[in-house]
Amino acid sequence: MQVTLTNGTKLPIEMHKVRIVQRCTLQPVAHRLAAITAAGYNTFLLRTRDVFIDMLTDSGTNAMSDNQLAAMMVADDAYAGGDSYYRLADACRDVMGFEFCIPVHQGRAAEHLLAKILVKPGDRVVMNYHFTTTKAHFELQGGTVHEIYCEGALETASTNPFKGNIDLNKFQALIDKFGPKKISFVRMEATTNLIGGQPFSMANLRAVSAMARKHGIPVMIDTSLISENAYFIKRREAGYADMGIKEIILEMMGHADMMYMSGRKSTAVRGGMIATNSKVLFEQVKAWLPVYEGFLTYGGMSSKEVEAMAVGMREMCDIEVASSGADLIQYFVDQMVAAGLPAVTPAGGLAGHVDAIKFLPHIPQSAYPAGCLAAAIYLVSGARPMERGTVSMDRDKQGRDVFADLELARLAVPRRVYSMAHIDYVVDRLKWLHAHRDLIGGLRFVEEPPVLRFFFGRLEPLNDWGTKLAKAFEADFGPEQ
Ligand code: F0G
Repeated sequence: MQVTLTNGTKLPIEMHKVRIVQRCTLQPVAHRLAAITAAGYNTFLLRTRDVFIDMLTDSGTNAMSDNQLAAMMVADDAYAGGDSYYRLADACRDVMGFEFCIPVHQGRAAEHLLAKILVKPGDRVVMNYHFTTTKAHFELQGGTVHEIYCEGALETASTNPFKGNIDLNKFQALIDKFGPKKISFVRMEATTNLIGGQPFSMANLRAVSAMARKHGIPVMIDTSLISENAYFIKRREAGYADMGIKEIILEMMGHADMMYMSGRKSTAVRGGMIATNSKVLFEQVKAWLPVYEGFLTYGGMSSKEVEAMAVGMREMCDIEVASSGADLIQYFVDQMVAAGLPAVTPAGGLAGHVDAIKFLPHIPQSAYPAGCLAAAIYLVSGARPMERGTVSMDRDKQGRDVFADLELARLAVPRRVYSMAHIDYVVDRLKWLHAHRDLIGGLRFVEEPPVLRFFFGRLEPLNDWGTKLAKAFEADFGPEQ
């Protein structure tokens, strides 16, 4: 919740109290230099014991509620027919308005099954923007991904409240070019991850859905961050200020034929789901579920997580839960902007993002500016970002780098985990880094997996810039920080 202070400032105050805590450690800069070197300058390969503030992702790292933890204790561990599943299906029906609910072990498992059933070689898959695993699964099935984002979606400094919108003219042009039968579905990602967690509006979803339905093209929503997108609609779109999060979500789902989610985000568990009102689609997915995931009533998830997901799905409709990440991210982004840092604006739904091309104008995309910035941020703060740029794109068939549309260092804000002090500290270290940005150099791959290379790839700094940056930091702050 944002409360207004006497002096007019908005404070993102926590609407929960913290009763279980986990110790974290700020290792000194020399230790961090050794750790990032051992990790091949890839923040995925750091060990958490070397990380102070873990901003790699909000996936599976949000704080669960007391009621979620309590629900885990009454989970029904039956292999088949477990009550936990029926509680999840009830929550899905109530919150999402979908009759058929299929649990899977995480979001990409849903993408795998949906790709297997809906995408044929030569098909076109249309979306506001890709996500890494989404694209991989649809392409592995022989599909081609078309991103039809709205004008201005890739402008990192913007006031457009709905950069996740689809451009209807581009959608119509694809329908005209390929014919509706060649388009597997149109996918809208709720708070579009790779462009900075940017939402789409209800008006846009309504229009996309009308166009798709006119041509018999199914509408799919990636609901991994659905409560955040609904919260932005409430705050930013005319006509929704007085509506509850649940009503908004139900209206959104009314425009869709199916949804899938990573349950690791809005619902704060470790799992995933596909849901639909189509019995045909349900039967098709169900048939493959035991091959890849497990029986229908657990779908590869622990039954404890199934129970917690049922609770999390209802809790994400509470405005104080839906806003818990978004309001702190707003504060984070406001602080970055006030400090003159090139943050992605408006604030999005999962992280504070820094535009690495603007932060490091001297580093060409071929030397991976977002990767350099992510490693440098860890080095000077102990906060762990994620690279969201060219390192996160795989090479083309000729072995050439595919330059990403955006080069972002993403500092995720797991919900109900970190405080304003953590955010203030990170912004301060970003400020110091910005003043010393000339010390940062490029990176090159030394080990490179063939698919989703960002997970396990290893890089090395050109001209040993990490050591120089660590020395400058130590000169200003001493050896203990
Ligand atoms: N869709 C979206 C929009 C996502 O953000 C993610 C994961 C997935 C699908 C895949 O789900 O991880 O449960 O298999 N995003 C994580 C992130 C990994 O860090 O943003 P998953």
